[in-house]
This record gives sequence, structure tokens and C-alpha cells, in this order.
Amino acid sequence: MGMTEKPASAGLSREWAHRLLITGGAGFIGSHVVRHWVRRYPETLVVNLDALTYAGNLENLRDVENEPNYVFVKGDIGDAALLARLFERYAFDGVIHLAAESHVDRSITDPMAFIRTNVMGTAQLLHAAKQAWNGAYAGKRFYHISTDEVYGSLGETGYFTEQTPYSPRSPYSAAKASSDHFVRAFFHTYGLPVVLSNCSNNYGPYQFPEKLIPLVIHNIRHRKPLPVYGKGLNVRDWLFVGDHVAAIDAIFHHGRLGETYNIGGHSERRNIDIVKTLCRLVDERLGRPAGEAEGLITFVQDRAGHDLRYAIDASRLENELGWKPAMTFEAGMALTVDWYLDNGAWLESVTSGAYQQYYEKQYGNR
Ligand code: NAD
Ligand code: TYD
Repeated sequence: MGMTEKPASAGLSREWAHRLLITGGAGFIGSHVVRHWVRRYPETLVVNLDALTYAGNLENLRDVENEPNYVFVKGDIGDAALLARLFERYAFDGVIHLAAESHVDRSITDPMAFIRTNVMGTAQLLHAAKQAWNGAYAGKRFYHISTDEVYGSLGETGYFTEQTPYSPRSPYSAAKASSDHFVRAFFHTYGLPVVLSNCSNNYGPYQFPEKLIPLVIHNIRHRKPLPVYGKGLNVRDWLFVGDHVAAIDAIFHHGRLGETYNIGGHSERRNIDIVKTLCRLVDERLGRPAGEAEGLITFVQDRAGHDLRYAIDASRLENELGWKPAMTFEAGMALTVDWYLDNGAWLESVTSGAYQQYYEKQYGNR
């Protein structure tokens, strides 16, 4: 059946106000969304469907796994039979779709996995919702979580708006762009009640240490080289993950059907400045001499097709739904550094095993 953890009857012994399917809930952003929904909406049954790839980790959800309104199902969003069974069993009235292959560097070495999950998997999930809801769309909602990377790369100036033409340039962003197109196609063709958002780079607790910020914190801790691609001048717009979750809640409940919302932090930083900030914060926190970690910075070969700059204009979301980031970049980074240094066991457990082979392949034996 592909079911694990709780018995198949879990969550079915009572009536719920809502029954929500969250995909990819054992990953970085998904685990924050699951925790938020389980705690904030005790009358909603939350079913987390996750394949537990290298990026999915049930440790991320230990604190909510025994809540009565939470069920975990191990399975693949590409498994049509499983999706049909789940829609039948739980009669979902909402879907928040986060499951994806999410790392650009992995998409460069293994693009097919990205096409399977991000494109085929999303299409399968749309199809399952369409079949299950069968035109009875009142009160239903399918929310697709996407990325600003679908818009391509900016020069020194300008921002991505919801009108910016798609121009994906990595296999990751091409697969996400494709999934966005399918979501809109199901809205226009079948009337499926969808909503989408495209968010900038997230950071915060539970992010897998293949991504820049947790990788650098982990390496400083172990006095390993800090790999900066190219000259470190690429710019990303960083948003604390809790602010993304707040936006997801607002859009899920109040976003207009068929609409897309850009989400961003107004927090553009060059990679080299991010790395230097982390060096300072971690040295301070570990009581090491100032400047020690900066000595670990190592400029390495640039990522193939490396997008120069991403920056989001989030004014639609701000004006329509009153959302604004609550966390400043400085406070969010300090909180994040504290979390990783206080949760060494989590970091060690996710970097044992397969991570070592990934790291060696990606960065050589540095
Ligand atoms: P992540 O890699 O940390 O987590 C992805 C989760 O999806 C994992 O738990 C994994 O096990 C699961 N998964 C992968 N393939 C699956 C499959 N075939 N079936 C079921 N589950 C599967 O990713 P994340 O950073 O939390 O990103 C979540 C979503 O948000 C993605 O759709 C991503 O494109 C989007 N997004 C991420 C960012 C960011 O900065 N991290 C920014 C904007 C949008
Ligand atoms: P990443 O966290 O992979 O997010 P994305 O590629 O989705 O923006 O990378 C953020 C930036 O940091 C990106 O410009 C690539 C750069 N980077 C490095 O310089 N070194 C690294 O080891 C990694 C993982 C990323």
C-alpha cells in the first residue's frame, strides 16, 4: 500500500472541517508548512505524502508526528494508483503541492529525475485531483508551490513580476516552469481550482545542507573549505522560510483562483556577502577568533549556466493579501545559525551516508 507510520485507519475515525493533502511535507519548506497547518488548524486533517528521497527526513517532523490531525504516507506523487486511493480514502478538499526535486546542481548531473517528479509527478497529481473532484469544485483548492527561477536571470536591475515571461535556464527551473504550465492548463481547460506562487530563495532551519547557507554553516563548523562558485557575485533574494509559510497560508485561503503570486524578501545579497556574514556569525557563536572562517573561503569553478540575479516584486501579494515579510535578514540569519549549531545531531544525521558521495562528486575531495 505504500503506507507507513500510522495505521491506514488513522484520521478516519472522526469528521474533519477540512482534509488537506500536502506533498513533499518531509522536505525543508514542506515540513514548516505541515507543522504550521497541524498546529494552527486542529480541525483540518493533514495528510503528508512524501517519497522520502535523500531530501525528505521524518526527523523534521518529530514534534508533530503524534498529533491526531496528522498522517504520514510514504509514496511517490507519480504513483497514480496510490493517489487515487488516497483521494478516495480521505476525500481531500485541498492540496498544497511542494514535492519536487529542488537542487539546481543535481539537475545538472541528473535532469531526468527532475522531469519525472516535477513534470510527470505534478501532472499525475493534477490528474488525480481532477478525477477525484470530477467537476464538483466548490470549496476545493489545488495550490502549486513554485520558484522565481522560472523567470530566468536578471541583469543588475529590474524585478520579476507575475507578467515576466518564462525563461528557465537550468533543468530544475525548466521542469518547474513546465509544471507551472500544466497547472494553468488544468485551470483553463478543466476549470480545476488552482492557485500558484513563485517564491525566491528560502533559508532557515531544516534546509538540506546541499544548499548554500546550511552547507556553509556545516563546513565552517568542521573547518572545511567554503566553496563559492565563480566570483561569488551572483545575487539571490533571500526569504526566511517562516515568511514563505505565512504567504502560503494567505494565498491558500484568500488567493484568487487561477492566479499567480510572486513571493520575495526584498533582501538581495551577493553570494560572497552571504558567506562572509555566515563566517562572522559562526565564528562569534563558536568563540573562534574573528576572521578564522573567512580563511576557508575557496573560489571554485562556476555552476554551468549560472543565473546572475533573481529579485522579486511581491507587490501583488502585499497589496491584495496584506502579506509582508516579518523577519529581517539579520535576525533570520542569526536565528538560522543558532539553529544549525544547536542541532548538530540533525546536521550529522543528514550528512552521513549518501551525502558524502554527493559531496565528493560535486566538490571533489576537498
Ligand atoms: P526539498 O528538496 O527540501 O524537499 C522536497 C521534498 O519532496 C522531500 O521531502 C522529498 O522527499 C519529496 N519528494 C521528492 N520527490 C518526490 C516524489 N516523486 N514524490 C513524493 N515526494 C517527493 O525542497 P524544498 O526546498 O523544501 O522545496 C519545496 C518546494 O518549494 C519545491 O517545489 C520547490 O521547487 C519550491 N521552492 C523552493 C524554494 C527554496 O528556496 N528552497 C524556493 C521557491 C520554491
Ligand atoms: P543554492 O542554495 O543552490 O540555490 P539556487 O541555486 O536555487 O539559487 O545556491 C544559491 C547561490 O549560491 C547560487 O548562486 C549558487 C551559489 N552556491 C555557491 O556559490 N556554492 C555552493 O556550494 C552552492 C551550493 C551554491
